This record gives sequence, C-alpha cells and structure tokens, in this order.
Amino acid sequence: MSVTPATPTPERTATPRHFLMCEPVHYTVSYEINPWMDVTRHTDAGLAVRQWRTLRDVYLDLGHTVETIDPVEGLPDMVYAANGATVVDGVVYSARFRYAERGPEGPAYQKWFADRGYVTHTASEINEGEGDLLVVGDVILAGTGFRTDQSAHEEAAGLFGREVVSLELVDPHYYHLDTALAVLSSDPADPQVAYYPPAFSDRSRELLERVFPDAIRATERDAVALGLNAVSDGKNVVVAPGAVDLAAALTERGWNPIPVDTSELLKGGGGAKCCTLEIRSAR
Ligand code: ARG
Repeated sequence: MSVTPATPTPERTATPRHFLMCEPVHYTVSYEINPWMDVTRHTDAGLAVRQWRTLRDVYLDLGHTVETIDPVEGLPDMVYAANGATVVDGVVYSARFRYAERGPEGPAYQKWFADRGYVTHTASEINEGEGDLLVVGDVILAGTGFRTDQSAHEEAAGLFGREVVSLELVDPHYYHLDTALAVLSSDPADPQVAYYPPAFSDRSRELLERVFPDAIRATERDAVALGLNAVSDGKNVVVAPGAVDLAAALTERGWNPIPVDTSELLKGGGGAKCCTLEIRSAR
C-alpha cells in the first residue's frame, strides 16, 4: 500500500505594514452607488466607529503602524480609505472618483500625503485607488468594469514602472477588485491571492487561473460576506466573520485568519480592506 505524504503546511511570515485609516464619525448611507447601499436602511455611526476602532486595534496589536486622516463632514464614504489613493515605492497616485458624491475625497487624501512630503501625482484617468489597484509581488492587478477606467491602468503602469494586469469585473456586487480578490502574500518570490471566480469575465478568470494556479477559490458564502475584502500581512489575515469557507482554506494553508466584524460598514458596501490604505515606502 502506498501512502501519499501529506503536503507540509507552508510557514508564513508577517511583515510590518503602514496603514492609513479614516474614523467613520460622519458615517451614513445618503446615496446609492453600489447594490449594497440602501438609503432607507438605518445606519449607526456610533457602531461604525466601534467596529472601526476594533479593526484599528487589531492592526496595532499585530505590530502595524496606523495613521489617520481627519474625516470630512458630508463625505460619509471617506471611511473607505483604500479608495483614497494608491501608494507604491513611496509614490502616490491620487484617486479620481467615478461618482460626484465621492469626488472631493481624491484631493483630500492627496493633500494628506502632500502635506507629509510624499511625491503625489494627480490622476488624469478615473481610478478608485486600492479599491481597484492591488499590488501583488512585482505586478499590480487592476480592476475595471464598474469604477476604474482601463486607461487608468496604463497611467498607473507608467507612473509606477510596474506591469499592470487588467481584470474585468462583471457582477455589480463586486464593483471594486478588492471586493472580489484578496492579496494574501505580496512577496515577489511567492505571490498569493484568493478570489471569487464568478465576479470576473471568462477571460479574466482564465488569466487568474493561469497566473495563480494555487489560488484559494472563495465560495459564494465568502463573497456575500465581503470576505475577499481582507487584509493580509503575509501571515495574519483580517477577514469578515461570515467568510467561513475562506477562513478554513486559509488555516489549512498556513495563514492565521482573524475574524473582525465590520457589519455596519458593509451597509456602505465595504469591509476591512476598504477601510485600510497601505502606504508602501520605497524599497
Ligand atoms: N460606498 C463606497 C462606494 O461605493 C464603498 C467603497 C468600498 N471600498 C472598497 N475599497 N471596495 O464607493
């Protein structure tokens, strides 16, 4: 009888991260720009703030650095800091939002970076920051279809001098790439992602299968909890508690899933990753 040796669980390594977040003191749903948002539903800014602080404290306990930007009244979506910009090698590509309601957030985030001495570039093309531009190893995966224009992918490639791989999103519930795909390891030697296949066009799904043959395929149950909107430091993965299949797959493959409830922020269509902008300094 031959026994197939069990594949050893890989050893994962956490690296300290630098995050920018925005406390949701003005949180509400006052317009609808994605299918999760419903202006008739009650929202609780106090609860949103408590959940947000728990998320921030989890990052601090993991040893990460968290800076904050002052929330602006009348910009309730500013809590979704990931959309505010994309920062690679210390260079800031500003966001330019699809919808007028979020328009002023781009300059607000850009000013935060400029005031701190970062080189910032005002975007010519419509892009919603890390909502659609995800750094995985040496490449940038870029979403399009609902928010970020394809032309912004080229703009980002030119600015950052990195290969940008375009992915087409087809389900309005997963309107930003970071709602359909999570970066688990950004180590150029071992880039790893999890994603929800039905959120992508056939061509993009085939591309993902080719580039990431070992990726975790999330289930519908994971996706509807916005489980793909997760934040990984290479070992610890902050993830929505409802994403139980994803959490099990992560554990099996050597990651440490940390469930954090951001249910109040889900009413705006966002989760942990949406609230977290990563500042990547020059290597
Ligand atoms: N209400 C926001 C919008 O529709 C949610 C943004 C969520 N952010 C994200 N990174 N996916 O624009």
